[in-house]
Amino acid sequence: MDAVVQQDLREATWRPGEPGLVSPEACHILPSGNRMPLLGLGTRDLNVHTVDTVCGALELGYRLIDTAPAYHTQRGIGDAIRACGFERHDIFVVTKVEPRGDTYAAMHKCLAQLKLEYVDLALVQGLPERDAGDFAWHGLRRAKRDGLTRDIGLSGYPIDCVEELVYGTGEMPACNQLEWSPFGHSPRMLDFCRDNGILILAASPLTHARRLNDDKLGTMAARYGKTPAQLVIRWNLQLGVVPLPKANHTSHLRENLGVFDFEITPLDMTRLNALNEHYSPHGKLDYL
Ligand SMILES: NC(=O)c1ccc[n+]([C@@H]2O[C@H](COP(=O)([O-])OP(=O)(O)OC[C@H]3O[C@@H](n4cnc5c(N)ncnc54)[C@H](OP(=O)(O)O)[C@@H]3O)[C@@H](O)[C@H]2O)c1
Repeated sequence: MDAVVQQDLREATWRPGEPGLVSPEACHILPSGNRMPLLGLGTRDLNVHTVDTVCGALELGYRLIDTAPAYHTQRGIGDAIRACGFERHDIFVVTKVEPRGDTYAAMHKCLAQLKLEYVDLALVQGLPERDAGDFAWHGLRRAKRDGLTRDIGLSGYPIDCVEELVYGTGEMPACNQLEWSPFGHSPRMLDFCRDNGILILAASPLTHARRLNDDKLGTMAARYGKTPAQLVIRWNLQLGVVPLPKANHTSHLRENLGVFDFEITPLDMTRLNALNEHYSPHGKLDYL
């Protein structure tokens, strides 16, 4: 594979002719200077063979793994990283902590399950009941200072809550993980995140497989000689969003990496954007 292509986050929107998205080894550069791969593996509902599935994914070329305590995949992910013989610094691990309670202590629990010394990114998952989560955010800031995580961010945060949190604490999140697909996304959120150097991580990028049989999507994918899943993943990449497709099946894992050898035209990007109906496979988009 060619040398790593670095892409500044503020320049992350792909433009035709630019080399930034041609390689699965290309990466975003977070404001901290740390590198984040362009796409990752979601691990919610991963089957019981977590170690085998994650090992298989790493061998295929995945370098970013997204987890959370609620997914019950942290132990398997840590075991897979060790079993596969990868250097720790070659894998980007994302985990999450609940906004209620002591997020600093929760980070220690995550690391104990992963049996890792640090994660690359830790997110506050969702809003606490009453405020924007200053207390939770302070816990993660401390975790970052103490080296438990290299970067910190949010998940499911609306714009006004991100603003309130930054106003209250002075620290901008590196990322906001959001449900994000052509059928459910927010141009306003995209603009806000671009303006503030926040990278969006796309949760449920394949709509939990519920909308992959959409006629317009299928017709367009066929024109590119690609599958609907590949088209949706590529749409995310071209927006500068990091998709986290989850797949148990090896055929899906492989297929979802086949997104670096074609480009969606600007007109088709507009057509895909127009599929937006704020769809969520989990009920409603919580960040609108
Ligand atoms: N922060 C949050 O609150 C939050 C919320 C939701 C999700 N997430 C993250 O986002 C990740 C992905 O979301 P998700 O698991 O809800 O759903 P998803 O990635 O949108 O879809 C997964 C489904 O798509 C299928 N699939 C995968 N590749 C396919 C392909 N090429 N063709 C056809 N079907 C394909 C999978 O099948 P098989 O498994 O059978 O291969 C699975 O049924 C999660 O695992 C999690 O890491 C985070």
